[in-house]
Amino acid sequence: MKKVIKNGTIVTASDTYQADVLIENEKIAGIGSAATFGHVDDTIDATGCFVFPGGVDPHTHLDMPFGGTVTKDNFETGTIGAAFGGTTTIVDFCLTEKGKPLKKAIQTWHDKSAGKAAIDYSFHLMIGEMTEDVLKELPSVISNEGITSFKVFMAYKNVFQADDATLFETLIKAKELGALVMVHAENGDVIDYLTKQALAKGQTDPIYHALTRPVEAEGEATGRACQLTALAGSQLYVVHVTCAEAVKQIEEARKQGADIWGETCPQYLVLDEEALRKADFEGAKYVWSPPLRPKEHQDTLWNALKTGGLQTIGSDQCSFDFDSQKSLGKDDFTKIPNGGPIIEDRMSIVYSEGVEKGRISLNQFVDITSTRAAKLFGMYPKKGSISVGADADLVLFDPSVERTLSVTSHHLAVDYNAFEGMQVKGVPRTVLSRGQVIIHNGSYVGLPGDGVFIKRARYGNTLSNDRVEL
Ligand code: URP
Ligand code: ZN
Ligand code: ZN
Ligand code: ZN
Repeated sequence: MKKVIKNGTIVTASDTYQADVLIENEKIAGIGSAATFGHVDDTIDATGCFVFPGGVDPHTHLDMPFGGTVTKDNFETGTIGAAFGGTTTIVDFCLTEKGKPLKKAIQTWHDKSAGKAAIDYSFHLMIGEMTEDVLKELPSVISNEGITSFKVFMAYKNVFQADDATLFETLIKAKELGALVMVHAENGDVIDYLTKQALAKGQTDPIYHALTRPVEAEGEATGRACQLTALAGSQLYVVHVTCAEAVKQIEEARKQGADIWGETCPQYLVLDEEALRKADFEGAKYVWSPPLRPKEHQDTLWNALKTGGLQTIGSDQCSFDFDSQKSLGKDDFTKIPNGGPIIEDRMSIVYSEGVEKGRISLNQFVDITSTRAAKLFGMYPKKGSISVGADADLVLFDPSVERTLSVTSHHLAVDYNAFEGMQVKGVPRTVLSRGQVIIHNGSYVGLPGDGVFIKRARYGNTLSNDRVEL
């Protein structure tokens, strides 16, 4: 089965050019003029569209338990939403429990995702403690499971938080095994103290979530993680960076030659702390950790994306219904489940606010929403690339369409949209996952379960892409 995508403008992390793309089965089999491709079974017209490599979202939480409830979106609704937004690969966080085998946690995540995912996926593995058992299991996590990134939480005291010894040992082990260590960088002990003080004063509204998680707590933890990484001679990826204090630490460490990378998320680029003050408990919709920051941090984040201080955009998709889940924290902000729905709008927001507004280039857009994450997480050039032999994960993006983000038009299961009413330019008109059209003109035409688990390469390595013989 051969398909051609004709008349589009191919955009990669490095180049923009006119060419047609030949797809054979699941792979890109040729790039050039359709006239030279011979017989094809199907032609997709991309006139007026950019042809991007499918988005790679390195940070999602689907079907994840949190705060006594479970995220509203699971691997089916979440990945369908992702596909509508032009994302064709996600890496979700597999939570582990202290004292329990890693293998068991990984199996739980396979059970949640297999047969449900609409797009390809992989897992990062949470490390909560570094025991003899964990040490014994790690080599097989890398070589058998193909999971080559570990996540350490420096916050969420008494829940996910790991101590510095665990972070340091994880960094050392990751260096030895070829994995990338990811951190949620906030000082959980300081936040715990500030939270207790706030509650004792009767400060229970959503805004106190932000006020008890100050930028210093993120800057300090980010700096500490950077220092420990340098000491271990290891590699680090800081997730959901929100503020100038954290960006500064990452930039400084990179200047010293450290192998350190930073991710931010759309919500921190376009929303700010004031949202948490919305009346009628609406502020709860905007409770993330780290929290939204005062508006002035947005320019710092955009500048860091432009100049390379930050390199990727994850969604941190972690959705909870406003009515039945966020409401758990009505009388106590610490009980509001943290997170929001972003997986679907991630790329559109960054395109519209970034490229259309001249903050980043078109090629930078592809790099930060797709290619760089594929490289850092051992999936390139199979993912994140338009090249012969790569998976035919492609997005035909029509930049001329103007639309409004809304709960009434998104495809997630959750009952609100964090970007309600926001005008964006551009829409993914057609989305292909491994050669199969899964989104076309506003409809999902794929099958849940067609997405497959990707075993990833070790940190710094490429993932072979089984070149197509022409
Ligand atoms: O508020 C957030 N970010 N929820 C998801 C869990 C995490 O810390 O990434
Ligand atoms: Zn044929
Ligand atoms: Zn986090
Ligand atoms: Zn997260």
